[in-house]
Amino acid sequence: YLLSGVSTATEKHGFRHFMLKEIYEQPGVVRTCLDHYLNLDWVTDRSTNPINLGLPVGLYTNLEQVQIIACGTSWHASLIGKYLIEQLAGIPAQVQYASEFRYAPPPLTPNTLTIGVTQSGETADTISALNMEKQRRADLDDRFQPRLLGITNRMQSTLARLVDYAIDMHAGIEIGVAATKSFTAQLMAFYGLALDLAYRRQTLSIDRLEQIILQLRQLPGQIEAILETQEKQIEELAHEFSETQDFIFIGRGINFPIALEGALKLKEISYIHAEGYPAGEMKHGPIALLDEKVPVVAIAMPGSVYEKVLSNAQEAKARDARLIGVTPVNDPHATEIFDDVLTVPDVEELLSPILAVVPLQLLSYHIAAHRGLDVDQPRNLAKSVTVE
Ligand code: G6P
Repeated sequence: YLLSGVSTATEKHGFRHFMLKEIYEQPGVVRTCLDHYLNLDWVTDRSTNPINLGLPVGLYTNLEQVQIIACGTSWHASLIGKYLIEQLAGIPAQVQYASEFRYAPPPLTPNTLTIGVTQSGETADTISALNMEKQRRADLDDRFQPRLLGITNRMQSTLARLVDYAIDMHAGIEIGVAATKSFTAQLMAFYGLALDLAYRRQTLSIDRLEQIILQLRQLPGQIEAILETQEKQIEELAHEFSETQDFIFIGRGINFPIALEGALKLKEISYIHAEGYPAGEMKHGPIALLDEKVPVVAIAMPGSVYEKVLSNAQEAKARDARLIGVTPVNDPHATEIFDDVLTVPDVEELLSPILAVVPLQLLSYHIAAHRGLDVDQPRNLAKSVTVE
């Protein structure tokens, strides 16, 4: 099984690049995560926990805060994790860059859950930060016993051995240097963790839990719909950006990290300068960059900040920027405001990042492929950075 699994994962199966293949594997990855993280018995037996992460209740006892440590795309997934943990389970959470945390760790507080997020489980900065956290807590008294949790795609990795418990991302081997399916898998792990915490702390009603779980189950089909209906159009659109030198991505709330991730994907594989910004901050600086040569991609998914994002997008349009919206299908406002729309199925805000990221992955993929770049092995980058 292992051998056939590995050989399947390391072949392109007709795709031009591993990155494209891995983008297309996302519906399957989400299905696998759902199979592992959701407890089917809950449907008939409400005395059981709906979430099945195998984490002991002691990990959460008297929990007062969560600190999440990561790098790169894993750091972006962690920002969404923070949002989910705070909004669903009501626990304050902070996200730290591993390379920053190490040299200025926050003061120790007891009852903190520390989560290391790393696809490879080998990123040197993340490993060192978690090692340091483990040590500085162990050096103190019992109240500061480490509670370390890992989220990783490699259950045999250095990270998995270091932490007390690990959540397996179940993404399968990812070969493209630019993370795609592993990002989606990390989001799934955070949905699972936030719901597990919410269930145990009783911060959500059973009806609301059920509603979120039902929507999670629809995600694989919805990602398939994006891949089926959007790729051709995104490829054509991508060809129009062969000469573009700068891009701005904007989003708010739970989709601000998607703006960061969209910009990072473009930088990594297309070598185009791109910045992700919280849409409301655009007026405090980046708006000065805008003119007809700088396209602006706005993640405009219905929810608490929808109108705000649309009005931020209009501010960009007033500076002659070409406006691209990631919007739900059949949204009349979107077609009025945006020059181009990349549509995704209409879902509630909480679930929207996992869909909104897919057109952005395709957009950067097709821009890079059209430029004839080495998509799977971009210059100067490594899949796993094992030096500090
Ligand atoms: C490298 C990769 C990125 C990745 C980051 C963190 O920079 O090129 O794609 O997001 O490392 O990797 P990790 O394995 O810790 O998630």
